[in-house]
Amino acid sequence: MADYKIVLLKGDGIGPEIVNQAVKVLDKASEKFNFTVEYDEALLGGCAIDATGVPLPDETVAKCKAADSVLLGAVGGPKWDNQPGNNRPEAGLLGIRGALGLFANLRPAVIFEPLKKASPIKDEIIGGSLDIMIVRELTGGIYFGKRGRTEVDGQPAAWDTEQYSVPEVERIARVAFDLAMKRNKKLTSVDKANVLESSRLWRETVTRISKEYPEVELNYMYVDNCAMQLVRNPGQFDVIVTSNIFGDILSDEASMISGSIGMLASASLSESKSGLYEPIHGSAPDIAGLGIANPLATILSVAMMLRYSLDQPQAADAIEAAVTKVLENNRTPDIYEEGTNKVTCEQMGDLVCEAL
Ligand code: NAD
Ligand code: IPM
Ligand code: MN
Repeated sequence: MADYKIVLLKGDGIGPEIVNQAVKVLDKASEKFNFTVEYDEALLGGCAIDATGVPLPDETVAKCKAADSVLLGAVGGPKWDNQPGNNRPEAGLLGIRGALGLFANLRPAVIFEPLKKASPIKDEIIGGSLDIMIVRELTGGIYFGKRGRTEVDGQPAAWDTEQYSVPEVERIARVAFDLAMKRNKKLTSVDKANVLESSRLWRETVTRISKEYPEVELNYMYVDNCAMQLVRNPGQFDVIVTSNIFGDILSDEASMISGSIGMLASASLSESKSGLYEPIHGSAPDIAGLGIANPLATILSVAMMLRYSLDQPQAADAIEAAVTKVLENNRTPDIYEEGTNKVTCEQMGDLVCEAL
């Protein structure tokens, strides 16, 4: 029997291309660090709708629950944009997050040294380095609130609701404070407490939990200001904790500081040890099938899997070091700079394996 059972949810668009590269890298790491991995595949998203009629078949949930960890590519695409809301590929993604209780989504925005010039933010603004950990609440808020259609003054209208309970905020706050303790002991809680009642409860709760972490320097920021501060002075942030929707938006913004959305990995964690790992980007329908997608966000998600779920921190470090080395001379088009080799998705995967 293999040491680890991993379920692959390749998904749609560029999903299969990038997951295939990440699997190659995980296989290489397993040889080098002497562990064995057994893979199984399951359907999620548009490919699942095509095969079974629904974006999240029961079989997929069962397989993921039985696995040591799950690696996801991305879901969605124009083909399924006319599905009813609860049967879209994206509903399948929310469904698996909910079914596995993945309430904590860690999205590290780091800048790899060779990519400093690929970032649209000037070197002097980035300063020495960039290392922000965005902690996004993932199974609550407006994503999971009630929504519907109605009529207002005889005109069609629609509504969505944002709700957070105290225990939901407490557990994500503890994840964020624990991470801050292992890092630079700075936490920024991002909300819209000047308008939203759920944000006021969020802030009160984070303040109360902060008493358990006297060493952590806590500050609060409104989300609009945070969006601006990320570009003005990203170096001021260590850990950011925020709601589902604000974390979604701010992490896409932060990814660009690191050069490309194709660079940003993520870990979705529950109370149990197994987790789901995925790049933060989507299925990129505009480049799907062209072989030019950047697989590094997915490869770096494998590094997070090795660190958070599989207890192989050395293998995780080695993958991150290999990525840094490869980036010195090799780039997919999204991070291309003159003087470097322009490589395909597959070549990038091979180069990381060689560097390992
Ligand atoms: P997207 O992230 O798919 O693409 C945005 C832009 O970034 C595109 O120009 C794309 O080519 C580029 N890009 C994304 N990943 C890249 C990579 N690895 N390498 C190079 N370039 C990359 O976002 P979108 O266009 O808003 O959404 C497309 C579809 O993906 C939608 O159906 C959306 O719902 C879905 N989506 C899924 C996930 C997920 O599965 N986790 C995340 C975001 C969006
Ligand atoms: C992400 C995506 C998803 C989200 C969508 C596809 C449901 O944008 O993982 O960031 O909003 O969580
Ligand atoms: Mn997103």
